[in-house]
Amino acid sequence: MRWGSSPWSLSLSLSLGGALLLLGQLGVVLADIPIEATNKESLKEAGKTITGPMWEFYLANQTEGIPGKLTDTWYVAGAMFMTMIQFWHVSGYNEHNSVVSHDLMFQAGRNYDYFDSNYSQWLGNDDQMFWGLAAITASETGFPEVSNKPTWTSLARAVFTMQVNRWDERACDGGITWQIHPWQAGYTLRNSISNGGLFQLAARLGRFTNNQTYFDWAEKIWDWSAASPLIRTSDWRVADSTSGSNDCIDAGLMQWSYNYGTYIAGAAYMYNATGDAKWANRTEGLLDHLLGYFFPSDASKGYNGVVFSDVACEPLHTCDRNMLNFKGWSSMWIAMAAILVPELRDKVMPKLQGSAAAIGRSCDGSSDGKNNLCGSRWYQDTWDGIQGLEVQQAALGGITANLMLLNDAAAKTIDSNPNAKEQFLDTYNDDTPDALPHITTGDRVGSWILTVLWGGGIIAAGWWLVKQQ
Ligand SMILES: *[C@@H]1O[C@H](CO)[C@@H](O)[C@H](O)[C@H]1NC(C)=O
Ligand SMILES: *[C@@H]1O[C@H](CO)[C@@H](O)[C@H](O)[C@H]1NC(C)=O
Ligand SMILES: *[C@@H]1O[C@H](CO)[C@@H](O)[C@H](O)[C@H]1NC(C)=O
Ligand SMILES: *[C@@H]1O[C@H](CO)[C@@H](O)[C@H](O)[C@H]1NC(C)=O
Ligand SMILES: *[C@@H]1O[C@H](CO)[C@@H](O)[C@H](O)[C@H]1NC(C)=O
Repeated sequence: MRWGSSPWSLSLSLSLGGALLLLGQLGVVLADIPIEATNKESLKEAGKTITGPMWEFYLANQTEGIPGKLTDTWYVAGAMFMTMIQFWHVSGYNEHNSVVSHDLMFQAGRNYDYFDSNYSQWLGNDDQMFWGLAAITASETGFPEVSNKPTWTSLARAVFTMQVNRWDERACDGGITWQIHPWQAGYTLRNSISNGGLFQLAARLGRFTNNQTYFDWAEKIWDWSAASPLIRTSDWRVADSTSGSNDCIDAGLMQWSYNYGTYIAGAAYMYNATGDAKWANRTEGLLDHLLGYFFPSDASKGYNGVVFSDVACEPLHTCDRNMLNFKGWSSMWIAMAAILVPELRDKVMPKLQGSAAAIGRSCDGSSDGKNNLCGSRWYQDTWDGIQGLEVQQAALGGITANLMLLNDAAAKTIDSNPNAKEQFLDTYNDDTPDALPHITTGDRVGSWILTVLWGGGIIAAGWWLVKQQ
């Protein structure tokens, strides 16, 4: 932003006039991050700058003292590691690699499956899935393996294996549910991020290991999604969720970028691995919808057509901590699509570059001794006052997406670790990945009825619009 033009800087000058002057004299300038979206060095510097406060939030939020476990959420750290590993790969910035590596491995838990019994009672499939995507990102980028531990690929594969074992044909002809246990609200719901996330994980494992099992599952999950109300192929609209207790005839239509992004990247991996034109068509159809919907151009609201915005919550500042992340991941996922389906590059590039420039202008916040705080609205000329790990992470994702596209060796962005195939430790037993006592068929039937009984009241409360963890 332009220094001095915002309400924030005005109030700061009023309350802290003297201190501000002092800051100026010391040469400390609270201002935009200068980002030249076509310049790799500029993007790398911006990424480092944005990582600074994000890391402070990360360390301060581990209030339970457990590596990789943030207060009130479990998956967000995994998703942040996914972003940081991708950024490291395209920038070489390795300042936090050892902690990222340690904490990413730590949360794999006692059975190395990202389903540790500390958390498994209340996790959703999407929570576990994000750690799986972090692990396959580590595989693809050649993030150093940890000695005497399973490979990153093994961890990604454990998540895949557990989740496909949860494929649920008791309603809707299939799909995986949002929540894993019958006692959780949302147990019968089938949502796009869980199914799309597993689809993407399968496609990436398939391309990385060249094992047909993963491709077969990716086909199956796509086919089911496109036959359900989740993906409407006539206009490529992606719904957020559909209700299993209603046999998936309805759709929760809140529009979130990550639901698109996860399917887009998965389809792009499938195209790149198989060369089948149907996957290019699907990638492009979904991408066109995302680019049209989440890059609005209504100038009266401050939009210019090239800045990513999760429009369902940003304008009203109603994004919860999950939603604040979405466009960061989605930026990287559409960058992957542009790399893996090169014909899409010209469409994606201007949108990601416009977003990078906007990130530079909006990450000029300052509070509690932290500078270069990013906000939730990239399209706004200055920080919008929202702060935290999530918004820093989203901004880092937006910067990283640009670096992925500018990287000369584009192919390496996706797959540079061909030697790290599936190496399981002898001690690691993939056949029994489930730390929970197995739910018997009897339990399942009983709980199914319980869930049906709950259904009406829960839906009436509108719980399904908001993701809890
Ligand atoms: C599980 O909780 C215990 C007790 O708080 C803690 O010591 C351990 O590190 C936790 N494990 C994981 C994977 O979070
Ligand atoms: C392919 O992956 C599946 C699922 O993880 C596994 O069961 C199978 O053993 C793998 N096949 C090979 C040849 O590695
Ligand atoms: C995808 O294929 C359909 C059917 O052939 C066609 O109508 C549509 O234009 C294609 N979409 C894209 C984005 O290529
Ligand atoms: C923890 O994270 C939340 C959300 O990012 C943030 O608002 C809060 O300030 C953080 N707490 C600390 C102590 O950093
Ligand atoms: C797969 O991706 C690479 C870049 O990583 C690209 O060079 C190649 O053309 C892509 N393959 C197809 C079939 O588009």
